[in-house]
Amino acid sequence: MAARASRKLISDYITKRAISSSVGSCRHCSTAAESSPKIPHFPKKGRLLTGATIGLVIAGGAYLSTVDEATFCGWLFSATKLVNPFFALLDAEVAHKLAVTAASRGWVPREKRPDSANLGLEVWGRKFSNPIGLAAGFDKNAEAVEGLLGMGFGFVEVGSVTPVPQEGNPKPRIFRLRKEGAIINRCGFNSEGIVAVAKRLGAQHGKRKLAETSSTSPSSSEEAKHGGKAGPGILGVNLGKNKTSEDATADYVQGVHTLSQYADYLVINVSSPNTPGLRMLQGRKQLKDLVKKVQAARDEMQWGEEGPPPLLVKIAPDLSREDLEDIAAVALALRLDGLIISNTTISRPDSVNKNPVSEEAGGLSGKPLFNLSTRILKEMYILTRGKIPLIGCGGISSGEDAYEKVRAGASLLQLYTAFAYGGPALIPQIKAELSECLERDGFKSILDAVGADCR
Ligand SMILES: Cc1cc2nc3c(=O)[nH]c(=O)nc-3n(C[C@H](O)[C@H](O)[C@H](O)COP(=O)(O)O)c2cc1C
Repeated sequence: MAARASRKLISDYITKRAISSSVGSCRHCSTAAESSPKIPHFPKKGRLLTGATIGLVIAGGAYLSTVDEATFCGWLFSATKLVNPFFALLDAEVAHKLAVTAASRGWVPREKRPDSANLGLEVWGRKFSNPIGLAAGFDKNAEAVEGLLGMGFGFVEVGSVTPVPQEGNPKPRIFRLRKEGAIINRCGFNSEGIVAVAKRLGAQHGKRKLAETSSTSPSSSEEAKHGGKAGPGILGVNLGKNKTSEDATADYVQGVHTLSQYADYLVINVSSPNTPGLRMLQGRKQLKDLVKKVQAARDEMQWGEEGPPPLLVKIAPDLSREDLEDIAAVALALRLDGLIISNTTISRPDSVNKNPVSEEAGGLSGKPLFNLSTRILKEMYILTRGKIPLIGCGGISSGEDAYEKVRAGASLLQLYTAFAYGGPALIPQIKAELSECLERDGFKSILDAVGADCR
């Protein structure tokens, strides 16, 4: 309906423009047609051009009115590819800011086509219409959740959010390795802080109901919930710590107290390479202490029948076998709700070594991260015996990539770098390809394919 209405508006507008330009734009005929029946004195070339334009516009308008909403929507997504070269000319952080602003104002296409049935799944008692999510770091301050979900992501993760606002590292701090489909960033948790983000989320979205009785089971409700706090999509909140804070646990607990009521799931990010000492929190003892305290802080709050949001930990891809075993043991022992695998890597795979930009300090993301993060994902799926939902993240740029992560053990998926390069058009493309992969291999749904390569 909306597309038809907008097509009508466009064609009305164009027709009006065409009419007004044919009767009112000649300076010799300033009193317009009613005072003089004379034909305006356009030069012959101008008349031809105007005629051709009107013809084209009428033909275009007539054609548009015959096109169905799905086709029109497909066109809009494809058309966004036209602006990619313009974004490529800008500094990476400026381009990023512009993209977030565009999404926050709704200057982005809106997905009207329903997701394929085989992409739908239920995790933590919530229904995801598709498993493709936007990873943390894109919308750090929750400025554009609705616009991003509207583009067709099954879920969006905001953050990392720190308790106190902080600037992050000096600029430039985001570097493109275009040919390699990669980015190196050393942002260092630039964040407006938990209070600003809570205000924004509170204004935009419903609050998770806090009730008199508390419940510790996130999936206690019989009926799976369609969508979450942000309407039809699911909203994750990724928590970080301040650079100068000496008590990391207190920072995460503060994040939980202020933001968990707006979140469909929470993430403890202990894997950014750009905050000194952060990744040490992945050690067995440190992680166990941290998760216990954060879970306790979450469960002490009074939750309604929905229960508290699930708690996940996001880990690095640069971990040894022993590190992974430790994390798996903690996750199983403490009944962690999920793991995100993975954050950016501090390693520099051979595929980027020839590019001088690879010498920049920071975390590498995008295509060169795919193999490493998928290997860690698979190991973790086996170590946790498929008992904990895993979010596969790192280098996904196609439906085949997404499918490989699912077969390696991911129930849900996230991307960032490929979206930064490919823009909105990439989302329907990945979803369609992933749906085809499932169909090709005889899987009725995503969940049937999870861990298929580990059996
Ligand atoms: C510029 C940039 C900023 C990021 N900021 C965060 C962040 O604040 N918190 C976080 O958990 N991950 C952050 N990430 C990591 C991504 O969420 C993701 O884990 C990583 O980029 C791998 O996915 P990709 O290869 O699809 O980009 C950031 C990544 C990039 C490129």
